[in-house]
Amino acid sequence: MATQLAAQDAPFTWPSQDTSRVPYRVYTDPEIYALEQARLFQGPTWNFLGLDVEIPEPGDYKTTFVGDAPIIMLRTMDGQINALMNRCQHKGSLLCYKPRGNVRELTCVYHNWTYNLDGELTGVAFRKGVGGKGGVGPEFEMHDHNLVRLRVDVYRGLIFGTFSEETPPFTDYIGAELTASIDRVFIKPLKVLGYHSQMLPNNWKLYAENNKDSYHASLLHVFHNTFGVVRPNMGGGIKLSANGWHHLSYTERTPPNDDATGTEKVRSLKEQYKLNDASVMEHRLELGDLVTNSIQTIFPNLVVQQILNALAVRQLIPRGVDRSELIWTVLGFADDTPDMLALRLKANNLVGPAGFISMEDGCVGGFVQRAAKANPDDQTVMPMGGSGIEPSAGSRVTESAVRGFWKGWRDCMKI
Ligand code: FES
Ligand SMILES: [Fe+2]
Repeated sequence: MATQLAAQDAPFTWPSQDTSRVPYRVYTDPEIYALEQARLFQGPTWNFLGLDVEIPEPGDYKTTFVGDAPIIMLRTMDGQINALMNRCQHKGSLLCYKPRGNVRELTCVYHNWTYNLDGELTGVAFRKGVGGKGGVGPEFEMHDHNLVRLRVDVYRGLIFGTFSEETPPFTDYIGAELTASIDRVFIKPLKVLGYHSQMLPNNWKLYAENNKDSYHASLLHVFHNTFGVVRPNMGGGIKLSANGWHHLSYTERTPPNDDATGTEKVRSLKEQYKLNDASVMEHRLELGDLVTNSIQTIFPNLVVQQILNALAVRQLIPRGVDRSELIWTVLGFADDTPDMLALRLKANNLVGPAGFISMEDGCVGGFVQRAAKANPDDQTVMPMGGSGIEPSAGSRVTESAVRGFWKGWRDCMKI
């Protein structure tokens, strides 16, 4: 249960006892957006930063964000992974302004302060002045000006950072059942096959909700119900972490109709529509089960995706109250054969900004955003599957996981 703070600490009071109704102001209010930075993104959450295979060599770095905070994730000379705030302690310039690179130390371009890869301040230009004049005073202590350093946890090659000392270890954060779901997909060393990036015309939470909302998949995504990637009558269900913050939605073939190669035959549910090249839907079973779709969210900013053989992680970055950025990192396994690699790349036509089954998610959040401005105290309603936050073994026609997202949001925001 979220702690109710004094009115001056919370910009509004949650309108009901549960999370089945959400006031529109959460998508449009700059004050709420600012509070999310402090209480949620810099609060007790593990935020996805990137993959360890993206920084394989000592000195490799990649820049990213936790909420609005610019972050450098890097590999030190002894192979450790650090996450540092990408902001010089002098006057606040970005230290790394390229997406990636390889460095031995971090040097600020503005006045040349330098830091080692643990974020410790190691050099201040003109520290003792010039010709005995100028420079810093005797009270200046180098160790008072180290970079802000995040705690880091790496699981199966996924790198997470947190600003908070309170965040439990990552596997405790998501719980054993959802940890097993990551283990299920990332069975071997990973290889990055490429990236998509898209700007979403909506508040970040609308995309976060969209991923938890398995109920929309067979309705909004016409490709799904035309070609049967996801049908409401398929097997599967929804798993939730004990606190409701994280979820897994999955579908599986029931009954299996594989041919000898493990490939499911594509059937069109609308006879007038045919795929000229049905191989875009080829699915080779490789994870030891019949699961065709597995969408896992890790609160607040990560989606782990398996759709047929299309593997990816999706990182969600807020870009102001009414915009967000979605970065898809398309994955394979390091030992994929050329044949398997080709199959994965073809399957990736299904996903990404223009993906056959994901393009609508890039605009539907904008439809909500455009309508949300009016009457901010009005509320959405999410009655599917009741008003509670429970896993669902047989059905995905529930908004339980979305209500779980809002519980996580309220827990962090103390609203
Ligand atoms: S802002 Fe970095 S050295 Fe001045
Ligand atoms: Fe969707």
